[in-house]
Amino acid sequence: MPESSNRRVGVLISGRGTNLQALIDAIEARRLNATIAVVISNRADAAGLQRARAAGIEAITLPHRAYATRDDYDRALVKELQARDAGLVCLAGFMRLVGEPLIAAFPNRILNIHPSLLPAFPGLDAQKQAIEYGVKVSGVTVHLVTAELDGGPIIVQRSVPVMPGDTADTLAARILEQEHLAYPEAVQMILDGGWRVDGRRFVAAKSPTSAAT
Ligand code: GRF
Repeated sequence: MPESSNRRVGVLISGRGTNLQALIDAIEARRLNATIAVVISNRADAAGLQRARAAGIEAITLPHRAYATRDDYDRALVKELQARDAGLVCLAGFMRLVGEPLIAAFPNRILNIHPSLLPAFPGLDAQKQAIEYGVKVSGVTVHLVTAELDGGPIIVQRSVPVMPGDTADTLAARILEQEHLAYPEAVQMILDGGWRVDGRRFVAAKSPTSAAT
């Protein structure tokens, strides 16, 4: 995929918004060449809305309960995102299933971050699932969003050890540090282009070093 001229990103949240903050910080530090066009929350009390406004970013609430069906809600999201010329959508703790209207409007242009090494532990409470299963390594996955929950092509993964005394909370904190590195990295890769999707594999652009060999 060629480099996209549209580096405007819409971020969808439901809660505290630390991954949103990581994207804001990476843009400010010039590690990420992007603009956050809008932050949309389905919940009015999401702390992430304040983070966006503090950074001078437009932040709006679109309550899902106001819509009769999930497709209606998705269409409303598409309208708000397109009105701000967003070319990429980042789900950052957005606790809603994303459906066909949104996926069709942004094919291979929606990213999600999930706190496990997918395909292990999709769905809710991934860190608790990892502790209960007894894995020794877990981590974070940033992937393209498809109709399959937490099932799209994997862009970036980062691993962390699971320690003997870990609880879901201590493991979540260790993973979160890596989330904040992985998400800006993945967004930069997507916006820079040169990648492709081959079956269910995300094939990254050749780095200048590997291209030379
Ligand atoms: C993160 O753990 C993310 O991986 C998951 O939801 C959480 C959101 O946290 N999808 P925050 O709102 O970004 O702080």
